Amino acid sequence: MKSNSEIIEFDHLVVGSGLAGLMSALKLAEAGGSVALLTKRQINEGSTPHAQGGIACVTDSLDTFDEHVKDTLDAGAGLCREDVVRCIVEAGPEAVADLIRRGVHFTTRGEMGKTGDQNEPDLGREGGHHKRRVLHSGDITGAEIERALVAACQANKNITIYEHHMAIDVIVTARLGLPGANRCLGLYALDIPNGVVKSFRGLSTTIACGGVGKVYLYTSNPDVACGGGVAMCYRAGAKIANMEFIQFHPTILYHPQMRSFLISEAVRGEGAVLKIRNKKGELVEFMDKYHPMKSLAPRDVVARAIDNEMKRSGEECVFLDITHQSEEALRLRFPNIFEKCLEIGVNMAKDPIPVVPAEHYSCGGVKTDVNGATNIAGLYAVGETACTGLHGANRLASNSLLEALVCANFSAKHIREHLDELRKNQFDGFVPPWHCGNAVNSDEQVVIAHNWDEIRRFMWDYVGIFRTNRRLERAKARIVLIRKEIEKYYWDFLVTPDLIELRNIATVAELIIDSSLARRESRGLHYNSDYPDTDPALAEVDTLLSRKL
Ligand code: SIN
Repeated sequence: MKSNSEIIEFDHLVVGSGLAGLMSALKLAEAGGSVALLTKRQINEGSTPHAQGGIACVTDSLDTFDEHVKDTLDAGAGLCREDVVRCIVEAGPEAVADLIRRGVHFTTRGEMGKTGDQNEPDLGREGGHHKRRVLHSGDITGAEIERALVAACQANKNITIYEHHMAIDVIVTARLGLPGANRCLGLYALDIPNGVVKSFRGLSTTIACGGVGKVYLYTSNPDVACGGGVAMCYRAGAKIANMEFIQFHPTILYHPQMRSFLISEAVRGEGAVLKIRNKKGELVEFMDKYHPMKSLAPRDVVARAIDNEMKRSGEECVFLDITHQSEEALRLRFPNIFEKCLEIGVNMAKDPIPVVPAEHYSCGGVKTDVNGATNIAGLYAVGETACTGLHGANRLASNSLLEALVCANFSAKHIREHLDELRKNQFDGFVPPWHCGNAVNSDEQVVIAHNWDEIRRFMWDYVGIFRTNRRLERAKARIVLIRKEIEKYYWDFLVTPDLIELRNIATVAELIIDSSLARRESRGLHYNSDYPDTDPALAEVDTLLSRKL
């Protein structure tokens, strides 16, 4: 492994090419700054293109900010920050209008053959929402947003895109033994095709690396979601909040060849009902036993209900039944999902869809304010990597694209307004070269693959939808062993993408386990049967972890 002594300088560094990263880069570049946008694969391989549902935003005259705030707070189970929720919800309409000006197309009522103003957006509904307020582009909303923003970034002369560059660590003064409060100077990144570690410097570094799905065996997330953003920020001394709140999406397609394809909650929004096969072989509804909103209850309730029904009955999956709708209507509203189901022989208009829960979203992350600012000067986190206080203990459906969009805008503005401060304490551009080993040992490659599989399996079995103290303690004992193994050989071996990702998923797994052990109650997405009740004294109390440097 070579370490390039050259230092690559930009005004701003942005890591991640989903909605949060692309919008951060655009806003910083449009204000005149030079921006390096780093992404570990091709630019459009993040989580955003997989987002189906849409953006929750108050655009209908019959809807109000208060109602969107209330639905968010109710889903968040006492852990949302109301000021943050209100701020993001109220900034939504302007941020969405900006997306539309940039060429993002949202499906209109006219396109759906509905009555009323034909140019108004068609609004979908999802779990926990009492109103239709989700703007969507068919059932590929994220892909449509990604298309428009990638094109805008590629056309912007102030943005240099580094594809196949995997961030390894952010560079902070505390880890270099430099005086003063901890501040971020830039980052090290592996140029994967050339096998070189490069040093990047910037006045600001924005981490928008998305989620942590690959920490679990089953997830709706793409392969890139290894929690790199949270792990890097933690190692740099950033505060990490509420990692016990991992959202399991209730309806991932159940099929051996397709274990991560999402069946959008919008399908339930259009009337699909969850059912399970009983002993007589009939499909019967069950959500009425769990929540007054039945199949449209908030996600934590639905995922736990499905888990419970599957364990109780021994069934391998449940079913989502929307067969009351015509094939024509389903093809119009859910063209992508319809085709994917057909590929495995399921015609949504005739057959109930087999589904199971899987990891979907991390409500916790790097603790930030609504501007994405962390406790480290110059280091920002936006999107799923961050924990602003919007989602609390359970994210309301389709609030994540809203948060990524609004907070990217806020964070770029905050950076622009604080440039004078960010220019201070730059230590004359000092950055030590990356220290790395050169050894290649095929045995160690086996260990990496083994550890990777082991983490994902025990996180699924012990730190999943249903937790107990004993399961969490078992998981803790295993992750400590794996962490020690990684620490022992990390510095001596060639830094490969697999090793970087293993280090990151191990760090994130331990953060999830430690946060779960620390919360001695059940709330929102975190259910521990040893503490089955919600403790009112812990409302608004975040679980905070940070590393002493
Ligand atoms: C979905 O379409 O069900 C996912 C939407 C979300 O996670 O917010």
